[in-house]
Amino acid sequence: MRPMNAGDMQLLEGARKAAENAYCPYSNFPVGAVVETECGSFSGCNIENTSYSLGVCAERVAIHTAIAAGARTISRLAVSCRGAKESDPVSTRMPCGACRQVIAEFLPVDAEVVIDGVGVWRVTELLPNAFRLP
Ligand code: THU
Repeated sequence: MRPMNAGDMQLLEGARKAAENAYCPYSNFPVGAVVETECGSFSGCNIENTSYSLGVCAERVAIHTAIAAGARTISRLAVSCRGAKESDPVSTRMPCGACRQVIAEFLPVDAEVVIDGVGVWRVTELLPNAFRLP
């Protein structure tokens, strides 16, 4: 992990803005994410459902929106767990396990993930030895 620089902060602004659209009446925990691709930037927010398990995370909405738009090369991702309070532990700001597997599918292993309030992690640091079919 490394600390954030000005470029990271700029990307993060997109993630924070995306969190404003979060639909999270059950958790009241808004999250936003943005990805940079060869087709431009795409954002996502968490979208919950009254049937709880159907909810989706902000990172997966951003990544899958980019892929559905035709992007295939995602160079960077930023995520902002805006629902986390200053005093909350770092774990409240980290991507969940399912999102880490999806990140590993679409970002190169050495790509950087900007995590609000935490720092910048490489994909391989977030999910070492990610599962892949032979
Ligand atoms: N959430 C995300 O959007 N991304 C994560 O990586 C962790 C959790 C959302 C899912 C749910 O809507 C809310 O945060 C509380 O878990």
